[in-house]
Amino acid sequence: MFLESVLLACLIAFPLILKLIFPFFWTDFLYHIELLRILIKFVSRSRRRPPFLALDRFLEQVKTRPNKTFIVFENKPYSFKDADKESNKIANALRAVSVLRSGDPVVLFMLNEPAFIFCWLALAKLGCACALLNTSIRARSLISNFRCCRGAKVLIASAELQAAVEEVCEDLQQDDVMIFIMSEELRSSSSSSRVKSLSVLESSDSDVPQSYRANVSFTSPAVYIYTSGTTGLPKAAVINQTRLLAALAVLASNGVTERDVIYVTLPLYHTAGFLIGFLGSVETGSTIILRHKFSASRFWDECRLYNVTVIQYIGEVLRYLCNTPEKRDDKEHGVRLAIGNGLRADVWRKFLNRFGNIEVREFYASTEGNVGFVNYAGQIGAVGRVSYLHRKLFPYSLIQYDTERDEPVRDSKGLCVEVPKGQTGLLVSKITEIAPFVGYAENEHQTEKKRLRDVFKSGDVYFNSGDLLKIDRDNFIYFQDRVGDTFRWKGENVATTEVSDIIGFLDFVEEVNVYGVKVPGHEGRIGMAAVKIRDGMEFERTKMFNHVRNFLPAYAQPRFIRIQSCMEVTRTFKQIKLKLVEDGFNPTVTSDSMYFLCENEKTYVSITPFIYQQILTGSIKL
Ligand SMILES: *[C@@H]1O[C@H](CO)[C@@H](O)[C@H](O)[C@H]1NC(C)=O
Ligand SMILES: *[C@@H]1O[C@H](CO)[C@@H](O)[C@H](O)[C@H]1NC(C)=O
Ligand SMILES: *[C@@H]1O[C@H](CO)[C@@H](O)[C@H](O)[C@H]1NC(C)=O
Repeated sequence: MFLESVLLACLIAFPLILKLIFPFFWTDFLYHIELLRILIKFVSRSRRRPPFLALDRFLEQVKTRPNKTFIVFENKPYSFKDADKESNKIANALRAVSVLRSGDPVVLFMLNEPAFIFCWLALAKLGCACALLNTSIRARSLISNFRCCRGAKVLIASAELQAAVEEVCEDLQQDDVMIFIMSEELRSSSSSSRVKSLSVLESSDSDVPQSYRANVSFTSPAVYIYTSGTTGLPKAAVINQTRLLAALAVLASNGVTERDVIYVTLPLYHTAGFLIGFLGSVETGSTIILRHKFSASRFWDECRLYNVTVIQYIGEVLRYLCNTPEKRDDKEHGVRLAIGNGLRADVWRKFLNRFGNIEVREFYASTEGNVGFVNYAGQIGAVGRVSYLHRKLFPYSLIQYDTERDEPVRDSKGLCVEVPKGQTGLLVSKITEIAPFVGYAENEHQTEKKRLRDVFKSGDVYFNSGDLLKIDRDNFIYFQDRVGDTFRWKGENVATTEVSDIIGFLDFVEEVNVYGVKVPGHEGRIGMAAVKIRDGMEFERTKMFNHVRNFLPAYAQPRFIRIQSCMEVTRTFKQIKLKLVEDGFNPTVTSDSMYFLCENEKTYVSITPFIYQQILTGSIKL
């Protein structure tokens, strides 16, 4: 009797003790079970012959839930069956009018609208790969992006983009390209006979025979997604069919089911919108609420209207939401999950405080990379958890990086050096069969630049993520900075995201951008922050001074502050930063106010042309 009670007590106590010693045991355990289930599904699908493609998952959904709502756009719902029929019409129309053959790549230049998805499905049915162009590009960059996708002879554009296409059609004509506008008739008569409307009214909605995609294999390119590189030149990451199959699992592995409603406001031509949002819904059979573009002011009203349960974010999206005026019903909505990447700790806290108990799944991944992490434990600020199993599957490592020379540190044997836990290092991941790096289309130079050789053994090859990360004692992994963003001052590395997080805590700061600027006569770069002040508030110089003093080591405290009335939205973040770095702290190049951290006055003081000169000549010591 006694023994039994002890046993019983032990049994009850066991999970508690486990929780005490390994606080994340159950979370890890459940996540890995889920991961295993998905891995098994993935492997069994990837063994099927003929190959099981992402399109086949869509066709399964059409069979099992034909009348379930798949997409809602501007209040108009489309069921899975509707999407199937619409895409058949497009496929049949394309077959009738164009010279398109199975396997040819096609370039899509389309806004977020149902036709984008129908076109993609149509092309998948025809066995064609699709390049997804960024719809904000024009003129020369439109042409150079187009040419990244070699062999493309067909471009399909949204009706709204007809003018942008006509601007370049002469150049495209040289490449012998057919241009189709997704509308029944052209808005204005076209100057070129090569621009045609793709009419689907008369087109048959009968199924496209499977034989059209008979030559598609797992290694065939499926989509090309453009990533903006630091050099400004576009690179198209090749996503092959296997990769699509893996992408199907992302939402499913984070607990999304057919009962969920996903709000897709991010562009479909990017990884987040296409691979995660759209394909996630294809896999799970959930509903997509599609929007032309993100709107912070309409966001929650639409979430309520459509009973949205899952939202996606990248970078600044949640910050924009936190920056809208507070409302009484901020916590009244059905959103249970937010999934994305680039959420900073300060915004994360604000977001939860304000909008209630939403599970945030922050992940780390890149379109072309071969390793990813997901933070399934809700640890604020982390991009994921590392585990033995994960590392066995995807052999990655954080290695020492010399930010000054902009290259990995090499030991006497010429090999890289792993950093210990708690220290920041460059994330590299071994290129293997299950973690391949396909590279960029038509750009062997950029592709080779991402390959790092002789890492731990002579002859081995790793993917160089270009990102600096850190693993803590509890095995959480944190994104620190992009290589190149981190700068060195007084022999110390300054991670710009860390400094931004800390400044972001101040209530009068709406947005902040941290970077390093050169000062004559000094090695490295000194910290500077461009700050946008919240409406109706002002820059409290002394509060800022005390705050950076209390929370940042001396070398990381921004010595210069630039107050910006608005952050530019037309350029990419990278370009904005480059411009800021170029302007430096010279008060005469801009009408923005500039401040200087003054030790004597214990506050930030205005940089006058006189002070500027004194800094340049070294009479003010930094
Ligand atoms: C598949 O490839 C074979 C051999 O290259 C070719 O003859 C055939 O036409 C292709 N089928 C389709 C549907 O493109
Ligand atoms: C595509 O995926 C396969 C895995 O099925 C991979 O081995 C291959 O390297 C990938 N890339 C290309 C261009 O085939
Ligand atoms: C949202 O949910 C409410 C309550 O369950 C329901 O009455 C309403 O019809 C739903 N709206 C949509 C668009 O599904």
